[in-house]
Amino acid sequence: MKKYLIPNTELEVSKIAYGCMGLGKTWDSSPITDDVISNATNSISAAMDGGINFFDHADIYARGKSEQVFGEVLKEMKGMRDDIIIQSKCGIRFQGAPNSDSPGRYDFSYEHIINSVDGSLSRLGIEQLDILLLHRPDPLMEPEEVAKAFDEIQQKGKVRYFGVSNFNPGQLALLQNSLNMPIVVNQIEISLLHNHVINDGILANQTSGQYAASTGILDYCRLNNIQVQAWSPVALGKIFNPPSDADENVKNLAQQISQYAEDKGTSKEAIALAWLMKHPVGIQPIIGTTNPDRIKNSCLADEIKLSREEWYSLFTIARGNPVP
Ligand SMILES: NC(=O)c1ccc[n+]([C@@H]2O[C@H](COP(=O)([O-])OP(=O)(O)OC[C@H]3O[C@@H](n4cnc5c(N)ncnc54)[C@H](OP(=O)(O)O)[C@@H]3O)[C@@H](O)[C@H]2O)c1
Repeated sequence: MKKYLIPNTELEVSKIAYGCMGLGKTWDSSPITDDVISNATNSISAAMDGGINFFDHADIYARGKSEQVFGEVLKEMKGMRDDIIIQSKCGIRFQGAPNSDSPGRYDFSYEHIINSVDGSLSRLGIEQLDILLLHRPDPLMEPEEVAKAFDEIQQKGKVRYFGVSNFNPGQLALLQNSLNMPIVVNQIEISLLHNHVINDGILANQTSGQYAASTGILDYCRLNNIQVQAWSPVALGKIFNPPSDADENVKNLAQQISQYAEDKGTSKEAIALAWLMKHPVGIQPIIGTTNPDRIKNSCLADEIKLSREEWYSLFTIARGNPVP
């Protein structure tokens, strides 16, 4: 698989990344079994065999078990750490932590960021994260406080680069204004079925019917050399196997994806991911399937080129309307 440099870093990353959320399996306090480790090993091996060198985590995935399982696999696969890039996230806190009446919330406080990074490093069994992301915008964010935490973590060598997730342009600009290092990644949800960050641009000047605020996040990231990553890039498989009560456009989309896959002698996953990767902002999809065959199928996307006509056909079917 082809690789490229994330702007403003020395990180050479595969065009597709692997999302590790599913590796820990359950979001409860049940212990990690040998089966879970063995399945995770198979998923990670399939990703690496397909040319993926980038692994995305978060402190909260499966309540820490996804990082922990990954740490177990790293121990077994000698030398693997040197070949891969590891990203994790912090900033989401569960309901009931630390007190039984604590609500689910976001927390960009200095203490939480520092503690979260130490927790991720310990669960993963590594010395340094390549990238740390703030997981979801915290309305109570104090940019100077985040900057203090980032400076300290970087000086101690615990994290090399920093980014965010689910941020809009205003939030990015506000945080960047206080940071001593560039924000290198913004990870947002994008897929053919969750396409509004692309659709917004098309609707920017509409006065009636469907219209949008045109947040311009993709253009902002492109202008500011921020790598865009797409989470849920195949909408949890719904774009291939729509539920029976799905809207007509979703069913039509699944059909068109199958047709293109057949015409091009490739997988459905490759078509859906190639659609994302054709966008000139340079989207790095973070695939989340744990199934080795689907991982292999996803990695074929690197080889697929969609024409403008094919890209727009998929887009208009997904929108359920022709472009204005
Ligand atoms: N920053 C954020 O806020 C945020 C939020 C969510 C996720 N993420 C990251 O993004 C990664 C990917 O997210 P995701 O898991 O929601 O993305 P996804 O790749 O769109 O969905 C994968 C999920 O769909 C299921 N699926 C069912 N049929 C499938 C098919 N035919 N092909 C592929 N998958 C199918 C998979 O199950 P099987 O495992 O059985 O294949 C898996 O549970 C996560 O691992 C995480 O790293 C970030």
